[in-house]
Amino acid sequence: MIHTPRRSWRAVAPVLVIALIAAACSAAPPAGTAAPPAGTPASSPAAPPAGTPAMSPGGGTGEVEIFSWWTAGGEADGLEAMIEVFGDEYPDLELVNAAVAGGAGTNARAVLATRLQQGDPPESWQGHAGQELIGTYVAADQLEPLNFLFEEEGWLDVMPETLIPQISEGDDIYSVPVNIHRANVMWFLEENLTEWGVTAPTTWAEFLETAATLQEAGVTPLAMGEQWTSMHLFETVLLGELGADGYAALWDGSGDWASAEVTSALETFSSVLEYTNDDASTLSWDNAAQLVLDGDAAFTIMGDWAEGFFVAQGLSPDDGDFGWAAAPGSDGVFQWLSDSFVLPKGIANRDGALAWLRVAGSKAGQDAFNPVKGSIPARNDGDRSLYDAYLQSAMDDWGSNDLAGSLTHGVVASDAWKAEIDTALGLFLADGDAAAFQTALTDACSAEGACQ
Ligand code: GAL
Repeated sequence: MIHTPRRSWRAVAPVLVIALIAAACSAAPPAGTAAPPAGTPASSPAAPPAGTPAMSPGGGTGEVEIFSWWTAGGEADGLEAMIEVFGDEYPDLELVNAAVAGGAGTNARAVLATRLQQGDPPESWQGHAGQELIGTYVAADQLEPLNFLFEEEGWLDVMPETLIPQISEGDDIYSVPVNIHRANVMWFLEENLTEWGVTAPTTWAEFLETAATLQEAGVTPLAMGEQWTSMHLFETVLLGELGADGYAALWDGSGDWASAEVTSALETFSSVLEYTNDDASTLSWDNAAQLVLDGDAAFTIMGDWAEGFFVAQGLSPDDGDFGWAAAPGSDGVFQWLSDSFVLPKGIANRDGALAWLRVAGSKAGQDAFNPVKGSIPARNDGDRSLYDAYLQSAMDDWGSNDLAGSLTHGVVASDAWKAEIDTALGLFLADGDAAAFQTALTDACSAEGACQ
């Protein structure tokens, strides 16, 4: 891939100096004795004040319920690998894996919202760095800041400086990033492309030509799954057609959703959809990826958890078992997202939750999890030799490409804005009315207050 100079991300909140925590560990209340101050509602028991030092690194005893949506091949295996590290380090704690199936958290996040409403938070959940974390959980005051843990564990020295603003509100840091995923990847089997006489397209215009050839040969050009995977495709088409700056401008209010460039990108998206499988709405992301492995489809565009899925099937990029390229038009741009874990207020086992977070942020935890998950460590000191050829290429690109945040996976838009886009997208998938889609997208940006 062509490497271009790194641009800095637009910060969710300015990076401010993290306050040094003066309090000693002995100042922390003993396990289970933190009493809520008077007047705290029963449904949200008080958390210790920001900066309260962690309990004993021993982690205590009891159950630790960890919530995610990692149930498919690769992602579930990665989670298990990290749970194993946790078991070794904290043998007195019992980890409860409360994953709820459904890619991109579509089901899990609804279940989580109900639990939070009922005052029944798990000890920790997976939330995406960026607007999903800050605009939803932090805005609802559901999380404790984690500055003290970052200080204790020295994480500010090993996590990318550019990531910290994406998990911070003002001075407060609110999650522990466990990885970096890349969203804009196109996957294929090289030998199938050769057999069908095509190569991986580098622009969307080229994709449409290649797709026509494939369709004539009776091959589905692009495998897609349920609706969130079409949002994932949509964001990569926007990125590929508008470029990193044009794409970023759509989210920071400096761009124009009603512009001719967006009209043209929507036309491209519309044409691309013509080349997807008819049964997309019934397939999960991994079902769609399987179509490529089975030779029923030429390409799929999916985040690199797909590589975890391929590896879980016994394939290896080191042996050339599958191929990848930047999604058309986005070579040199790394469209990123980051899975991260939080410390909720009102949990039953705060010590246990802190133990989990220590593992999630540790080198051992990240180097166990990420090579299997299909992601690269959030830390910049991961052991490169543990990562396969694809993941090493992702490490290189993360360090050198332009960066763009993912819409589908929580970086650039609040949940409310994303929900508006999702509704508009659902209508568009049903009626194909690109003009109405563009109007709805323009209105959604205004409703969010991001565009005037
Ligand atoms: C993303 C998440 C990834 C992966 C994917 C498919 O939202 O960040 O870790 O799990 O969904 O489930």
